Amino acid sequence: MTDAKQKFIEIFKKNVKREGADKLLEWLEKSDFFTCPASTKFHSNHEGGLCEHSINVYNRFLALIKAEFGKDWEKKISLESITLIALLHDVCKANVYKMEYKNVKVDGVWTQQPYYTVDDELPYGHGEKSVYIINGFVRLTREEAMAINWHMGGFDARVRGGSYSLSDAYYKYPVSVIFHVADIMATYLDETTE
Ligand SMILES: [Fe+2]
Ligand SMILES: [Fe+2]
Repeated sequence: MTDAKQKFIEIFKKNVKREGADKLLEWLEKSDFFTCPASTKFHSNHEGGLCEHSINVYNRFLALIKAEFGKDWEKKISLESITLIALLHDVCKANVYKMEYKNVKVDGVWTQQPYYTVDDELPYGHGEKSVYIINGFVRLTREEAMAINWHMGGFDARVRGGSYSLSDAYYKYPVSVIFHVADIMATYLDETTE
């Protein structure tokens, strides 16, 4: 087991006690969640990248929550919620990336180089797809569902299509704003492309 996978499971089991959590973890282990990349070309585009990204986002989110709400932060949001939101926000990327090979000339010799392509078996969107998958196992609170659903912020395809729901959601659920920032910080400050 990789260090990141071990760390993910440790945080998840310690912080999440909700009914169905064990079934969700079983599903993650059966999927390619722990081995797939976080993206094809951008951040953490290597094997195991999605699991590493999820942990980076968890650390950023917890730090931002503490900075925003101070020592009584747990009165605003539970550690269980923080964990469910952060570790699972990109579960929509499981079973999506496929490894393919292309011919590349290296020092005058043709070689086969692996690269990732996208083949989504459940094309249900992004944040909304994560909520859908998680809710099949664990009942999310409204606040958790909002944070996961809108974690892409202004990059969300629905927002780019003209939806106003994002800013309504951010006014009503401030934790969602903080979570979007945590995802961006992990992506651009903690992770690199290869
Ligand atoms: Fe995402
Ligand atoms: Fe993410």
